[in-house]
Amino acid sequence: MSPAGKNKPSFFITTPIYYPSDRLHIGHAYTTVAADAIARFKRLQGYDVFFLTGTDEHGQKIQRRAQAAGKTPQEFVDNIVAGIRELWSTLKISYDDFIRTTEKRHELAVQEVFRRIEAKGDIYKSQYEGWYCADCEAYYTEAQYKGSEGGKCPDHDKPLERLREESYFFRMSKYAGRLLKYIEDNPDFIQPASRRNEMVSFIKSGLEDLCVSRTTFDWGILLPDDPRHVVYVWFDALTNYITAAGFPASPERFAKYWPADVHLVGKEIVRFHTIIWPIMLMALDLPLPKKVFGHGWLVLEGGKMSKSRGNVIDPVTLVNKYGLDAIRHFLLREIPFGADGVYSEDALVARINSDLANDLGNLLYRTLVMAEKFFGGKFPGPGEETPLDAELRTLAGSVVRDMEQSMERLEISGAIANLWRLVSRANKYIDEVAPWALMRQGQTGRAATAIYYLGECLRILGVALTPYLVDTPERIWTQLGVEGSPREGLFRELTEWGGLKPGTVTRRGSPLFPRIDPETRAPVDATKKSAASITSAGGNAPAQAAATGFSPQAGSAGAASAEEVTIDAFKRMDFRVARVVSAEKVPGADKLLRLSIDLGDATREIVSGIAAQYRPEDLIGKQIIVLANLKPARIRGIESKGMLLAASSDEDLVLLTTDSDIPPGSRIS
Ligand code: MSP
Repeated sequence: MSPAGKNKPSFFITTPIYYPSDRLHIGHAYTTVAADAIARFKRLQGYDVFFLTGTDEHGQKIQRRAQAAGKTPQEFVDNIVAGIRELWSTLKISYDDFIRTTEKRHELAVQEVFRRIEAKGDIYKSQYEGWYCADCEAYYTEAQYKGSEGGKCPDHDKPLERLREESYFFRMSKYAGRLLKYIEDNPDFIQPASRRNEMVSFIKSGLEDLCVSRTTFDWGILLPDDPRHVVYVWFDALTNYITAAGFPASPERFAKYWPADVHLVGKEIVRFHTIIWPIMLMALDLPLPKKVFGHGWLVLEGGKMSKSRGNVIDPVTLVNKYGLDAIRHFLLREIPFGADGVYSEDALVARINSDLANDLGNLLYRTLVMAEKFFGGKFPGPGEETPLDAELRTLAGSVVRDMEQSMERLEISGAIANLWRLVSRANKYIDEVAPWALMRQGQTGRAATAIYYLGECLRILGVALTPYLVDTPERIWTQLGVEGSPREGLFRELTEWGGLKPGTVTRRGSPLFPRIDPETRAPVDATKKSAASITSAGGNAPAQAAATGFSPQAGSAGAASAEEVTIDAFKRMDFRVARVVSAEKVPGADKLLRLSIDLGDATREIVSGIAAQYRPEDLIGKQIIVLANLKPARIRGIESKGMLLAASSDEDLVLLTTDSDIPPGSRIS
């Protein structure tokens, strides 16, 4: 049931708070974009969402970096935090609160937490000596670094330091049994299950009391009654989740949002969130978060991404190059949530081309062109429903239900993959139903059903994509001509079949996503291959030439040898940019394709001898160049009006296209 009305149930989701020690990279963006998608989805379901992110600003590592930069720690973090906020605004992260651990509200909360746990007798003073990693801000036991004296940090691969200090200790050992029982009784608490198993073994191997104060540096929150010490940075950082929910200052707000529904964290910090944090909450007599989800890492082909290796990927560069929605789609779709995934620019480009430019972009484009061509640019009311139509309608319903279930399990990539089942099916449905053939046969009612059903699938997809993509859903709705916003309303209602009003006037715009050339990585309409001389392909070529696929003058890569012409002769030829709307094989002719092309103000058919080089499905949506005023000719009984241009060598033939998108019908001179 989707919640609605004034008393919406709350949903509190958090990201880890990031260390402002450096600019953030694509790996950090991954965590935040994933949380953003979940937050947006929950809002669409009608929840009162509280989406929290922020920065973890204290500790020795930050203090050292500030020193190295010749700044005070506060100046140093202020500068980086400003960049982080800017990054989230570039990625359109819809957070509701941004907490900084240097804020007063947080200092008060941490001191209160410390005081309460100490008063309970669960914090005591003692000596600590151990192997410490300043980057982790953590001591490691021998079992953990698995080495002899001077072992290395398992996360940072740097030598550990031997430290000895008078410290306050948190009696974690006391709670081990209670925590294990909680994890057993609440199988959803740690997700995915593999991480739960790791944590259970870790706890069973024995929990030591935790050193929760430091005297070796001073960039931190002072202990309330012993200001020579600062609070251990993880004790400080984990508390951020309750500070932002209103602890201890706003009990009413706190009661509303706490416990958190999901802490989304990377796999290396699951340990802090499922052992230290729940025990802190038990000691405070506060409820535990409902779920800690440990996602995998985005790694590079050569291994881990890190500033020290100099191989970090900057999300802003990628957004500038490919657009925000392309990057968000890649991050959310490419990696099964929970597993590690390899980032490569090739994989990114492949994703953009296949999912966005080809599948989704073409579905919208083909639907709109057919609505224009067959129904004057308006969505018709549906006519009779055939079993094929019913199958598409049913699939639209099951896809949105499956998406809801996947999101419930936080399977973001699975949820998106599921939406693409509908995109692919709808594209295939166009080919199977062939509305152009129905129109030729006078079966307008059935064509109307098809166009309406396609429009409705796209309207629903527009809604279902809103958690993941931030501009595309609006662009889909605008081009369909649907009024309002795909984000306003409740998911269940907005995705109910039949929302598209018959008579809706389409407003076709530029393609949703330009295709990217995998070699140059620049947006183009088609991949360029090496080409030699220019030749006409099919169209009005004589029957014999069309049958072989090449016109008679198709020559080798020699110098031009044709006779001279005047500019007037050239000007008499009306060359235009066109876009392929549909393509099919001509029955009984191996080399011929029948193309329906969009010339801006009109669509028409041409027959072309390119079937040996191009598959019909690969042509759809492609921009081509045609000689539009060539005298029509009948080829295999089909009237071909115009001729497309292609370049050919002895071995190959490639279509001519434009360097970037330009509206169909544009003149060539
Ligand atoms: N400050 C701590 C978190 C405290 S939460 C109370 C911290 N900060 S961090 O900046 O190092 O990392 C923040 C998050 O970014 C972690 O969840 C981490 O897993 C994630 N990622 C950092 N690099 C990543 C990848 N390459 N891939 C995916 N996530 C990555 O830890």
